[in-house]
Order: sequence, then C-alpha cells, then structure tokens
Amino acid sequence: MTDYPTLALNDHRQIPQLGFGTYKIDDADAPEAVRTALDTGYQLVDTAAIYENETGVGKGVSERPDIFLQTKVWNDSQGFERAKKAADKCLARLDRDHVDMLLIHWPCPDKGEFLDTWKAFIELREAGKAKSIGVSNFREQDLRRIIDETGVTPAVNQIELHPSFQQRELRQLHKELGIVTQSWSPLGQGDGLANPAIKAIAEETGQPASAVILRWHIQHGLAVIPKASSRDHIEANFKALSFALSDQQMAAIDALDSAEGRMGPDPSELN
Ligand SMILES: NC(=O)c1ccc[n+]([C@@H]2O[C@H](COP(=O)([O-])OP(=O)(O)OC[C@H]3O[C@@H](n4cnc5c(N)ncnc54)[C@H](OP(=O)(O)O)[C@@H]3O)[C@@H](O)[C@H]2O)c1
Repeated sequence: MTDYPTLALNDHRQIPQLGFGTYKIDDADAPEAVRTALDTGYQLVDTAAIYENETGVGKGVSERPDIFLQTKVWNDSQGFERAKKAADKCLARLDRDHVDMLLIHWPCPDKGEFLDTWKAFIELREAGKAKSIGVSNFREQDLRRIIDETGVTPAVNQIELHPSFQQRELRQLHKELGIVTQSWSPLGQGDGLANPAIKAIAEETGQPASAVILRWHIQHGLAVIPKASSRDHIEANFKALSFALSDQQMAAIDALDSAEGRMGPDPSELN
C-alpha cells in the first residue's frame, strides 16, 4: 500500500490517518472483521478494554505486527497502580508485548484520578509497553492539567467528531498544543449517511456517502476510525483514500455543524 496518509505525532512517530473501529464487534466476530479490514488495506485498529473484544482483535492482527494497534484503559482502572495492571491485562488479551497507542478512555473528572493514570502511562511508555500514549474525551482543562503537571503532552485526543458535531474549539486547541485529533463516531454512528448534503456530494463524486464523510475528516487533518461490520461497508469506507473533495464540497459539510450534535456522553458528566 503506497501513499497511505499518516499524521506526525508529537513523539516523532507517525499515525495512519484511517483506521478501523471495533466498538460493538463481538469478541467472536472480531478476528474475521479485523482480518477483512486488514485485507482491504486499513493500517490501524482501535479497540478498548470495555469493548470486551481485545482477544478477538488480537487474533485478527496476530499475523500483522506492522499494524498500528491502539487500546484504551477503562474508567474503573484509573489510578497509578490500577492503570498499570489494566494495561498489562490489555496486552495479555491482545497477545502482544506492546501497543502502538494506549489511551485513557475518559477523564472521569469527578474521580480525580486521571493525572495519576497519566503518570502511569508515562511509565508504561518508558517500559516499552506503549510506543505512544494519549487520551480520549479529554476537555481543555483536563489536557492542560496533565501537561502542566507532567510536562508530557498526549500524542492523541480521541473525541466524538462528525459533521453534525465538529468540535472546532477543541481541534484548534489540539493544533496549538501539538495533539492529533482522532474522530470517534466519525459517521455519526451511521446517521450522517442520510444527510441530504452528504447524499448530494456522494452523487456528484460517485463515491459512497460514508467515504465522503471520512474524506472530509481526512482533508481536515483528522485521524478517523469508522466501525463497520460487513465487507461491503469496510470496503466502501476505505474508498475515502481514493478521491478528493473540492473546497466547495468541504465547505458544504463544514456547514452541517450543530451545537446540539453530540450523540455520546458529555465527558464532564461521565464518571
Ligand atoms: N473513545 C470513545 O469514547 C469512543 C466512543 C465511541 C466509539 N469509539 C471508537 O470509534 C469507532 C467508530 O465509532 P462508532 O462505531 O460509534 O460509529 P461510526 O463509525 O460513526 O458508525 C458506525 C455505524 O455506521 C455503520 N456503517 C459503517 N460503514 C457504513 C457504510 N459504508 N454504509 C452504511 N453504514 C455504515 C455501521 O454499521 P455496520 O456495523 O452494520 O457496518 C455502524 O452502525 C468505534 O468503533 C470505536 O472504535 C470510541
């Protein structure tokens, strides 16, 4: 695969821009789904302890040590010692001695443990168990706190981001801090595909609606991890790498942003 788009991380590594999300793929189905994605050409796979499919995902990537593999430590494993143990369990389930990216899944601000969790992640990186470390669902104040206290800036913040919830302020902050934005629910959990503006651009370009949305993320310099179950969907989404949107088409999708567009939990409220 040539010309696979990547983004530079602040730790001098590169992250593939298009990856495969695995939330809601059962452990039993994960090996085949992941292998289908890898056969199609995806170079990154995203999982999490809470998805309960790390064993299956690990089987799916077992022949491909080159694949950028990322997982996340769940909320009940926050804290210095607990996070280290939880990361070891992730590695055992994945059957790997390291992951490419380890993320704190949610800040859980009321728990007040994400700073200690971040300190554990710094040690895990030093021990080689995670090549890069990052966070997910962190707000500005959470990011500033861990950076101010440790001097280590997360490589990635994986956040909810799709055409109806574009997170412009947080994206700008990430740019200033040198953090790659990775979009979760990039297709709006599938709902974005029915949007008339998206359908019109799909018609104009002759591309699947899903690929149009994913292309918009990619052209904005975002990393993106769509989830799909069937080979058809997996392949349709991969077409995002094979065409370009015009400035006008990008602007038409930019115009779909909505203050009420959040679909998942608010990070201030989840603990
Ligand atoms: N960090 C976090 O807190 C967090 C939260 C949520 C998600 N995530 C990550 O982000 C990934 C993606 O998010 P997501 O799964 O919530 O939503 P998504 O990727 O925006 O959408 C997935 C949905 O879209 C459908 N779909 C995918 N490709 C399609 C196509 N070509 N045509 C029609 N429908 C299509 C899928 O159906 P089928 O399955 O039937 O193909 C599924 O129902 C997750 O898998 C997970 O890895 C992270």
